[in-house]
Amino acid sequence: MSTRRAISSLVVAMTVMVSASASAQAPAAGQTPFEPQVGQAGKDVVWVPTPQGVVDKMLDMAKVTKDDFVMDLGSGDGRTVITAAKRGARAMGIEYNPDMVDLSKKNAEAAGMTARATFMKADLFETDLSKANVITMFLLPSINMKLRPTILNLRPGTRIVANTFTMEDWQADETATVTDGCSSSWCTALLWIVPAKVEGTWAIPGGDLKLTQTFQIISGTLGTQAVQGRLHGAAIEFTAGTTKYSGTVEGNTIKMTAPSAMTATKKM
Ligand SMILES: C[S@@+](CC[C@H](N)C(=O)[O-])C[C@H]1O[C@@H](n2cnc3c(N)ncnc32)[C@H](O)[C@@H]1O
Repeated sequence: MSTRRAISSLVVAMTVMVSASASAQAPAAGQTPFEPQVGQAGKDVVWVPTPQGVVDKMLDMAKVTKDDFVMDLGSGDGRTVITAAKRGARAMGIEYNPDMVDLSKKNAEAAGMTARATFMKADLFETDLSKANVITMFLLPSINMKLRPTILNLRPGTRIVANTFTMEDWQADETATVTDGCSSSWCTALLWIVPAKVEGTWAIPGGDLKLTQTFQIISGTLGTQAVQGRLHGAAIEFTAGTTKYSGTVEGNTIKMTAPSAMTATKKM
């Protein structure tokens, strides 16, 4: 079976499990200790844990450090949040299932990470994502697509890392398949960096810079020369003719550092 077909089958399986198990009853509090089951019901997607090797790879790709605030959307048993906290980051899990939230808190306590790993019982669609500079997720393709407009409006440079599922025509900036520590079907990590918005006309020494933008890919003209380039968050680079330009987008200005220091100003 091709990878594409295998992934499609798994998406169908995950989706079917949502409806099949949606009516399953969690044991009443105080009776049997809660034991999560792979495939158990979730509000919009069932629980399937990300293999630890993929969690590690996702956090590596996002270059998570102590300076980051990481949010895991649909945080399951808390493994991604706890791993990010072990790297020194502040991390918060958003999880709809209260039993999973309690379990995550216990797991964070066992790992000695309660100071930096926190969990909120909430719906990921009703959560303010703007404070995070790293967002992690293992959801369904349809949920990624529903979140995409919100994600694209986050601060440029926000890193998004996902297990396996894409954001369709928004190509990932980086993709990696994990073989060490991953023997399941969910072994691909994807990274996107929220690009600054640059579409429009910019006044720049040398002529008008006219840009069109498809996510992180830019094209257009500078004077009479064709422009091709890309964004890495707020960092911009493009070639016009044989000249390479690079700089940083700061709202309605671009501070160019190459080929020489200059400022481009957005024309309104
Ligand atoms: C596939 S699991 C991923 C768990 C964890 N992020 C990981 O990678 O191991 C998806 C999780 O999302 C939770 N979930 C489903 N719909 C949700 C929603 N609307 N808001 C918050 N959590 C949700 C499920 O309960 C489940 O724990």
